[in-house]
Amino acid sequence: MKKTLLFTSILLLITFLQSTQISAQSPAVSPAPSGPTNITKILEKAGQYNTLIRLLKSTQVGDQINTQLNNSNQGLTLFAPPDNAFANLKPGTLNSLTDQEKVELIQFHVVPSFLSTSQFQTVSNPLRTQAGNANNGQFPLNVTTGGNQVNITTGVVDTTIANTIYTDNQLAVYQVDKVLLPLDIFGPPSPAPAPKPEKGSPPTSSDKPSDSSSSDDDSSDATGLTRNGVVSFIVAAVISALSL
Ligand SMILES: *[C@@H]1O[C@H](CO)[C@@H](O)[C@H](O)[C@H]1NC(C)=O
Ligand SMILES: *[C@@H]1O[C@H](CO)[C@@H](O)[C@H](O)[C@H]1NC(C)=O
Ligand SMILES: *[C@@H]1O[C@H](CO)[C@@H](O)[C@H](O)[C@H]1NC(C)=O
Ligand SMILES: *[C@@H]1O[C@H](CO)[C@@H](O)[C@H](O)[C@H]1NC(C)=O
Repeated sequence: MKKTLLFTSILLLITFLQSTQISAQSPAVSPAPSGPTNITKILEKAGQYNTLIRLLKSTQVGDQINTQLNNSNQGLTLFAPPDNAFANLKPGTLNSLTDQEKVELIQFHVVPSFLSTSQFQTVSNPLRTQAGNANNGQFPLNVTTGGNQVNITTGVVDTTIANTIYTDNQLAVYQVDKVLLPLDIFGPPSPAPAPKPEKGSPPTSSDKPSDSSSSDDDSSDATGLTRNGVVSFIVAAVISALSL
């Protein structure tokens, strides 16, 4: 009688431990993505982004975005100027750029992490974009928020986020009213071509974003092991209790 009661309560405890183990692991399962994200498709659907679509293609930044979305779990944020924003640039602006500068211009519109609108309130300036160095005045992108408004300044242009075009938990696409012109390309011209610094070679900016390997779920495995350990311990305790 006493033994049966003990045995039953132990069984209940084991069942409980195993069910908590299962529920503790379930949040780690990420929702299955419905096919790879295609940035072109998203912009086509939104309409009025033909220039951006063309530039994403010619610079191959569009492919980079799709690949990154598929391979990283940091997500990505794209600031998307519509066609009329490109049309409002000084005539010849795009044509005056080298291929490399076009790549940088488009990469400047990409932040290599997912930012929800509320996260803009807490980001620290300058924001790092795919174009690279934000700190030495090359490609700074600053965000300020007030109420529902998100303002962006590059040091060359000031604009606001007009609209959310697309968002899941991986990719956010925001319409911006102006093309984000980076200081490095559109800032006040430096006097003469700066003499090459003697110390060391200039850092060649590697465009490939470092694919930081995904954070692993070791911790949940560890708790699983611990629980299994507890279970075996209890089973051993039951056996010794019963044999008393
Ligand atoms: C993305 O979508 C565009 C337009 O719908 C299509 O032309 C392109 O082939 C797609 N790319 C991929 C990798 O599926
Ligand atoms: C997405 O990633 C998976 C595995 O990492 C790979 O097998 C697949 O080819 C990738 N798809 C695209 C469209 O890059
Ligand atoms: C955003 O910019 C507008 C003008 O474009 C200005 O009136 C507003 O105060 C700015 N808001 C913030 C939070 O900087
Ligand atoms: C961006 O913010 C940083 C840090 O607050 C500041 O030092 C820098 O001058 C700002 N740049 C622009 C273009 O607003």
